[in-house]
Amino acid sequence: MRVYFDNAATTALDPEVLKEMYKVMEGQFGNPSSIHSHGREVRTLIERSRKTVANLLHTSPAEIFFTSGGTEADNTAIRCGIIDHKLTHAITTKLEHHAVIHTLQSMEKSGTIKLSYVDVDCKGNVDYNHLETLLKDNERSLVSLMHANNELGTITDIERVGDLCEAYNAIFHSDTVQTVGHYPHDLQKLKVHFMVCAAHKLHGPKGVGFLHVNHKVKINPMIYGGAQERNMRGGTENVYGIAGLAKALELAYTEMGTHQTYIQDLKSYMMAKMIHEIPGVAFNGETDPAKSLYTVLNTSFPEMDMADMLLFNLDIAGISASGGSACSSGSDIGSHVLTAIGASADRPSVRFSFSKYNTKDEVDFTVAKLKELCMVSA
Ligand SMILES: Cc1ncc(COP(=O)(O)O)c(C=O)c1O
Repeated sequence: MRVYFDNAATTALDPEVLKEMYKVMEGQFGNPSSIHSHGREVRTLIERSRKTVANLLHTSPAEIFFTSGGTEADNTAIRCGIIDHKLTHAITTKLEHHAVIHTLQSMEKSGTIKLSYVDVDCKGNVDYNHLETLLKDNERSLVSLMHANNELGTITDIERVGDLCEAYNAIFHSDTVQTVGHYPHDLQKLKVHFMVCAAHKLHGPKGVGFLHVNHKVKINPMIYGGAQERNMRGGTENVYGIAGLAKALELAYTEMGTHQTYIQDLKSYMMAKMIHEIPGVAFNGETDPAKSLYTVLNTSFPEMDMADMLLFNLDIAGISASGGSACSSGSDIGSHVLTAIGASADRPSVRFSFSKYNTKDEVDFTVAKLKELCMVSA
C-alpha cells in the first residue's frame, strides 16, 4: 500500500479538473490579448473563470486577480498594502507561512516598517486582546494573520480580526491558502482587504492562484508589463491553470459539506486510534473541531532513538507525510511554528493531512506502521 497523507503540502489533481484543462490545451491556444477570434475565445474563458471564482466567494470579478499561487499573492498583498498606503507598522504572528513572515521581515530589515508579533498560546491560538493593544498603541497598521495554520491546523477567527481592523482603521491581509475551497468565504461579510488562494491545495493545478483585493484598498500594479489582469499583473496569463482553478473551486464548493464530514471523521478516527495504540502520543495545535482545520492532524511522539529518521522510515514503509520538530536551542533547523508554540525539541512531530481520496484502511495501515516504528526505537 502507498499512502498519501501530505495534502496540506499539495493535493492530487481531480480528474474533472484535468479534463477541463485538457480541453483548453487541446482546443484553445490563442493569446487572450489578441483581438482576433482565437484570442477573444480565450479571453472569454478567463473572464468566465474569474466570474466563477467571484460568485463562489460572493464578490465582484473586479476584485479577483489571478497569480502564480499563494506565495505571489501573499507577497503582493503585503508589499503593495504597506508601500502604496505608506504604512510604517505591521502586525503578524510567528506562526505564519514563510511567504508572509519572510516578506514582512525583509521590509523590517530594510527599515520600511516596524514589525510586531501578536502573542499566541501553546495551541497556536491568537491572543485577540494583545492584537487590540498592538493596534491601539501603533500607527495605522497592516495586519497579516492566516486563517488556518498549515502545520498545526489551528484556525484564527478572521471575522473577529476583521472587526478589530475596521475599528482601528488597519489594513487586513489573511493568508487563506489552507481554507479556500475547504470552508465557505463570504466576501460580502468578511472585513478583509486581501485574501489569497493556491489552486493546488484544492485538487487544482500547481502554479496558479488568486489574490482578492477589496475595492476599498487601491494598489499599484503588482508586475509591470502588458495590460493583463486589468493592468495590474503584466504577462500572458496561465490560461490552462486559470481554467483548472475555476473548475477545482467549483467542485470544492459543490462537494464541500460532504467532504468536510468525511475528512473530519477520518481525522477523528486517526486521533482515537493513535491514542489507543501508541503510548505517549500527543497532538500539536488545536484539536477542538470547531477551531481546527479538518484536513490537518499534527502528531507528537515520545522521545525515540533516531527521531530525525521517523519521516524517512514512514516513507520507506509506504507513507508520505511531513513534519519535523521544534528547533533545538542554538539551531534554526526545524519548524519555526512548533518552536513558536513552545513544543519540545525532543519529541518528533509528524503532520498528517487528509483529502477526499483518503480512506480508513489507509489510517489503519499508517497507525500500525507508526506503532511498529515507535516500539522499535523506544
Ligand atoms: C499557508 C500557506 N501560505 C502560502 C503557501 C504558498 O503557496 P504556493 O505554494 O501556491 O506558493 C502555502 C503552501 O504551502 C501555505 O500552506
